[in-house]
Amino acid sequence: MDLNGKNALVTGAASGIGAACARRFAAAGAQVICADVADGPGRQVADEIGGRYLHLDVADSAAWAALGADLAEDPGCLHVAHLNAGITSGVGDIAQLSDEDYLRIIGINQHGVVFGLRAAVPLLEAAGGGHALVTASLASLSPLPLDLGYSMAKHAVAGLVRSAAPNLIDHHITLNAICPAMVATGFLSDNREQLEADGIDIMESEEVAEATMAILDSGLTGECFALFKGRQPEPFPFAKVPGSDYWSRR
Ligand SMILES: NC(=O)c1ccc[n+]([C@@H]2O[C@H](COP(=O)([O-])OP(=O)(O)OC[C@H]3O[C@@H](n4cnc5c(N)ncnc54)[C@H](O)[C@@H]3O)[C@@H](O)[C@H]2O)c1
Repeated sequence: MDLNGKNALVTGAASGIGAACARRFAAAGAQVICADVADGPGRQVADEIGGRYLHLDVADSAAWAALGADLAEDPGCLHVAHLNAGITSGVGDIAQLSDEDYLRIIGINQHGVVFGLRAAVPLLEAAGGGHALVTASLASLSPLPLDLGYSMAKHAVAGLVRSAAPNLIDHHITLNAICPAMVATGFLSDNREQLEADGIDIMESEEVAEATMAILDSGLTGECFALFKGRQPEPFPFAKVPGSDYWSRR
């Protein structure tokens, strides 16, 4: 997709998948707003690609409202919104899930996407349409007993994407989730060698960024694209639930 003359917002752009996507969008011609809480590395990525750095805690509803108001002063200013920021909690034992861990992961991985989408949609609409993307996870599509809060939040954002996308079609906005398998980012800490020894394929962030471009080009909406190393992103074939068509039509 040619993004010349287009503006993109990427959250969690200071590292990993977000940084790779920010670089890829810039290579396609976009002006990129790189949003993160890691100011040093975030600014570095923005400087490298001629973009703008913005300190944004995605879990902060008021910060999103301020960003929305700021960008709305230049109508038609946003064409791609990539809600990518996320964390892990690493807690699999429900009895050990503290309020703090639970609220933190839901705040960033789930509320961050809700607040972000709510701020981005009017801006995309003002541009005559555009694309919203959420970095979800394979943990959106299958259980992850190792990290309950992560799995819960990622399932939630997949549900949001599938439910909100039909409402955005008339506004010429696509909304999709990208659901990667393991990616070599800070998420893996020092476990890459062990995971690979255990036969787990690990992607580089750049492969996710290429897949993200393919999703933007696909023209599809409301999909959760599963992504595995060396394969094209594929819409996940959710099972049809009896009676669900009724609610989709309303
Ligand atoms: N690495 C994987 O194996 C993998 C697999 C599937 C999905 N994901 C998803 O990819 C996304 C990006 O993660 P990554 O793997 O690139 O990890 P990463 O740690 O390299 O990047 C996450 C970024 O989000 C930023 N961030 C954290 N909290 C934030 C907040 N409150 N507000 C704004 N920014 C915040 C971090 O500073 C960091 O720059 C996440 O949503 C993650 O769940 C990762």
